[in-house]
Amino acid sequence: MNYQTKPHILFRHEEITAAVQILAEEIRRDYQDKNPLLLGILKGSFMFMADLVRVLNVPVEIEFIRLSSYRNVGTAPGNLEMVQGLRTEIRGRNILIIEDIIDSGKTIAYLQNYLKKKGAASLKLCALMDKPARREAEITIDYLGFTVPDKFLIGYGLDWDEKFRYLADIYTLEIED
Ligand code: IMP
Ligand code: MG
Repeated sequence: MNYQTKPHILFRHEEITAAVQILAEEIRRDYQDKNPLLLGILKGSFMFMADLVRVLNVPVEIEFIRLSSYRNVGTAPGNLEMVQGLRTEIRGRNILIIEDIIDSGKTIAYLQNYLKKKGAASLKLCALMDKPARREAEITIDYLGFTVPDKFLIGYGLDWDEKFRYLADIYTLEIED
């Protein structure tokens, strides 16, 4: 394919840092003495997770999970599979899911259902971004950074075909043939 990508900046790193700081204050207030398990969804949440726990300044445990939706190989979206499962005990834990962006909501709906079955004591969701335009599953976001337009976003952990995750800012991406 012959293409050019045209990124436009949406959030500069300074804005992201300010939003992460506010989220950390809210989470600190609610989880001060609860020894929560912060569960990041790979790969998109890795940068957000690192920045969040750095400023959180409360004792937390960290785990990651990897889910695959086969979106790029033509099977029905929402057919989720756990690529890298959990080794940590979930029963009785206060779980806070850390996600980069909520789109259809299917990833989170699947994961929340799984964690409930595993006996989590409490289950909340922290997402840096919410793209509500294409929501299919009903999701409550307990801690949210930004609501974003229905555009494809890259940077700060988010990829397009595994590219651009390393960028410190967040951009909208337009693909031109
Ligand atoms: P959902 O199951 O449709 O809510 O999908 C959420 C997942 O899709 C996120 O964890 C992201 O990895 C990915 N995703 C959704 N929107 C974007 C985007 O604009 N850019 C990059 N990845 C995205
Ligand atoms: Mg993701």
